[in-house]
Amino acid sequence: MRNFCGLEVGRDLLYISRDDIVGMERKQTTIIHLIERSLSIHGMKEVEMPAKIGIHPKENTFIHAMPAYIQEHQACGIKWAAGFPENRELYGLPQITALLTLNDPETGLPVAVMDASWITTVRTAAVTAVAARYLSNTNSETFGMIGCGEVGRKHVEFIANVLPKLKKIFIYDVSPQAMERLIQEIQPQMEVEIIQAASMEEVVKSSLIVASATVITEQPRPQIKDEWIRKGQTILLCDLHTLYEDKTMKKADKYFVDSIEQNKLFQEYGYYPAGIPTINGELGEVVAGLKKGREHENELVIGNNIGMAVEDIMVGKAIFEAAANQGIGQTLKL
Ligand SMILES: NC(=O)c1ccc[n+]([C@@H]2O[C@H](COP(=O)([O-])OP(=O)(O)OC[C@H]3O[C@@H](n4cnc5c(N)ncnc54)[C@H](O)[C@@H]3O)[C@@H](O)[C@H]2O)c1
Repeated sequence: MRNFCGLEVGRDLLYISRDDIVGMERKQTTIIHLIERSLSIHGMKEVEMPAKIGIHPKENTFIHAMPAYIQEHQACGIKWAAGFPENRELYGLPQITALLTLNDPETGLPVAVMDASWITTVRTAAVTAVAARYLSNTNSETFGMIGCGEVGRKHVEFIANVLPKLKKIFIYDVSPQAMERLIQEIQPQMEVEIIQAASMEEVVKSSLIVASATVITEQPRPQIKDEWIRKGQTILLCDLHTLYEDKTMKKADKYFVDSIEQNKLFQEYGYYPAGIPTINGELGEVVAGLKKGREHENELVIGNNIGMAVEDIMVGKAIFEAAANQGIGQTLKL
């Protein structure tokens, strides 16, 4: 008989629902720490993580298979993640949803299945926070968030953890309701002032660090003019190049991605029709100290993070351990 975190392998499967996960207490700094470590492990090539493959049932949609094995944490599993940008409009459902299966690395048997929507949202915000720590002027007093949905809201919650001098967060969304919701939910817990901008232009011109989480489309739909961008800024992308002119992406002094392999595969799928700019390295290599991130205050630096399984499996394993210890979730029979 084999036991893994209190479960009898081969007999038990822990199901952890979205409500279970949201109800578990955890600190933002703990998540940022887990993500920083996962990026470092990726940078040092100490994770087995093939590029995410996917299927695309409708135009501009994806369902990605994202497996990873992290030996250091005895964590292995797969996230099955979908992005359907029209879900909210058509069905009142989120555009990003996911399910994560964890396996016992000793026997390969599944030990847990969990909703991974919260994990995806939170780890994405934590990746941007870590990227800001390594790629931006960390004495920045301003941060801009374009897209105020699930991922954008978490960005605003997380970013102050890595920018100690932050004073103002400028936000913009095509939906005024999304901006109002963000301010109502987050401003009461934050000292940093959140400012509802009148346009994307105001966000970009007012913020030293600009992040975006809107929609991912195969063909970019540039809405941010190259002339609004200035030296010293850091552009952090969760939605590929969708909002930017190709010349902006290519004029950066440094352009980093989370995974080169994954970006090249995306290009084969049809994303980046104008090509990928010269890549200076992977974010994990910078975090691990193998490559230099920002070196000068006046560099224009871009970080394009499309999301990696190593981040999900790292956070998923931590959630599984906590749930198993605290008796959270439902034990099902295999
Ligand atoms: N890189 C990653 O690891 C990662 C992980 C999760 C999600 N994402 C991406 O982040 C994006 C947001 O995901 P979400 O779950 O927050 O979705 P969401 O639907 O909850 O929020 C998206 C928000 O963007 C707004 N928006 C759409 N087009 C816009 C535009 N042109 N200008 C300004 N606002 C616009 C929408 O009104 C909405 O409020 C998606 O593109 C998703 O694929 C990336």
